[in-house]
Amino acid sequence: MDITSVPSLAGRKSAGLLVIPFWKGKKQAKIAVEAAALNKHFTGPISTQDFQGKEGEIVIVYVTGQPEKRFALLGLGVEEEITVEKFRRAYAHVTKICRKKKISDINVLLPKQRGISGQDLVYGIVEGILLSNYVFTSLQKDVIKDEPPVILSKMTLIGANKAELEVAHKCSIICDGVNLTRDLVNGNADDVTPHHLAAVARGLSKTCPHTTTTVFDKKRIVKEKMGLLLAVNRGSTSDPAFIIIEYKGNPKSKDKTVIVGKGITFDTGGLNLKSSGMETMKQDMAGAATVLGTIHAVASLGLKVNVTGVIPSTENSISSTSYKPGDVYVGYSGKTVENGNTDAEGRLVLADALAYTVDQLSPTRIIDFATLTGAIEITLGDEASGLFSNNDVLSDLLIRSGTITSERLWRLPLYPEYKEALKSDIADIKSTGGRGASSIKAAMFLQAFVGETPWAHLDIASTAFLTSEKRYQPKNATGMGVRLMVSLLENL
Ligand code: BES
Ligand code: MN
Ligand code: ZN
Repeated sequence: MDITSVPSLAGRKSAGLLVIPFWKGKKQAKIAVEAAALNKHFTGPISTQDFQGKEGEIVIVYVTGQPEKRFALLGLGVEEEITVEKFRRAYAHVTKICRKKKISDINVLLPKQRGISGQDLVYGIVEGILLSNYVFTSLQKDVIKDEPPVILSKMTLIGANKAELEVAHKCSIICDGVNLTRDLVNGNADDVTPHHLAAVARGLSKTCPHTTTTVFDKKRIVKEKMGLLLAVNRGSTSDPAFIIIEYKGNPKSKDKTVIVGKGITFDTGGLNLKSSGMETMKQDMAGAATVLGTIHAVASLGLKVNVTGVIPSTENSISSTSYKPGDVYVGYSGKTVENGNTDAEGRLVLADALAYTVDQLSPTRIIDFATLTGAIEITLGDEASGLFSNNDVLSDLLIRSGTITSERLWRLPLYPEYKEALKSDIADIKSTGGRGASSIKAAMFLQAFVGETPWAHLDIASTAFLTSEKRYQPKNATGMGVRLMVSLLENL
C-alpha cells in the first residue's frame, strides 16, 4: 500500500473517496466545520441529516466540484470512549465499501478531537484498513476466470504529521507479514508442503537482512533422532522438514526469543482418522506461518532483537505405513512417548522442536504457536487464544501485547494434578489424557519438553482460521500472532 500524507484538506489530490470521521451525538463534527472553512464548496454535501455518527454507521454521498467523486461519512461512536480497536473496526467498513465500488485510492481525513494520541489514532485507522484490505488471490488466478477484486492500493492521510506517517508505514510493513502468514495458510495443502515452507524460509533469508535459514531434510532429521516428527511423517509421501530461521538484529546481545510453530501441512488425523472438520485442516500449519510472517515483519522493520523461528513440518496422513495409536515412540529428548491418538500429532512434532530448541539454541524464552486442540474453541470461541505458560513475567508481557493488538489471550492453568492423566504404563509419558481439560493436558505434554526455560504456548486453533469474515478479519486465515509478536518483541 502506498501511504502518503498532506497537512490539510486544501492540499489533497483526487481519489475515489474522501473519508470524513464523525463522533456520535455532535450534529456536525468540528472537523467538518473546519473543513468547510478551508473549502468554500464543502458545506453543502456534508449536511448530516439523520446520520448520527454511531459506531459502525457509514453513509456515502456523491459530490461534485471536489477532488473525490464520493464522501464517506463514518461514525466513530462516543468521542470519549474511543480506542484503537474501535478505529480498526470502524475503518474496516470503509475498505469493504471500497471493494464493492471498486475504489483503489482514498483520502482519509484524520479526526481532530483526540481521546487518544495521534499515533495511536493513526495506528488504529491504518491497521483497520490494511487488515481488511486482504483478498486471497493466488489460487483464484488459476482456478477462477473472474476479474480479480479491486483492493485499495493508495491512501493519503489528511492531517498526519511526520511521526504519525511513520506509524502508518510501520503498520504497513507489519501487515505485509500478516498477509504472508494468511497466504501460506490459505494456500492449498497440496502446494504448501513442508518443502514449500522450507523454500519460503530460504527466500526470506535472501530478501531480509541479518536472516539465515537452515533446513534439516529427512536424512538429517533421522540423524538428529527426531523420532516423533518422523513417526507423524510415516503416513505421508512428502518428506518432513525441520526449519530453523534466525534473525540477528542485536548481535551483541545474548537475549534470544525462539518462536516455534506447528507445521502440519494437512491433518487427516492419521489412523485415528478425523470424522469431521477435515476440510479446514490445511490451517494446521498456521503456527509455522505465524513464525514466518513474524520473521518477515521483524526483519523488515529491522528491530534490534534476536529472534529464531523453529518449524517442525510434515503432513499427518493415512496409509499402511502410518504410525500407530498405542505404540511407543522416542524423540529428540530421549523420553519414550505412548501414542494415545494419531490425531494428537501436533504435540509430538512440537515436542521434538521444543527439546531441540532447549538443547541447541540457548533460548532466553520460547513461545510456541499451534493449532493444537479443537477443545480450545469450546473453551474460548474465536475471541481469544489459549495461553499456557510456566512463567508469569512472559505471560503478562504476552497478555499486554495481545491487548494492544487485539489478539486477545486468556491464560489457562497448568496445575500439576492434570499431569496425572498423561501417565503411561509402558512409556515415560502418554500423549493424550482423556476428554476433560484436553487443551490443558496438551499444553502439559509440551511442558514436559521445555525444562526450566521460560515458555509460553499459544493454542490458536480457534483464532487462526475463521469460517466467515469477522470485523477487519477476512474469511479463512487471520494471520493471528504476527502483530502480537512484533508488539512483544518491541516491548521486551
Ligand atoms: N489440528 C487439530 C486441532 C484443530 C482442531 C485445529 C480444529 C484447528 C481446528 C489437532 O491435531 C487435533 O486433531 N487435536 C485433537 C487432539 C485429540 C485427539 C486429543 C482434538 O483436538 O480433537
Ligand atoms: Mn490432529
Ligand atoms: Zn493437528
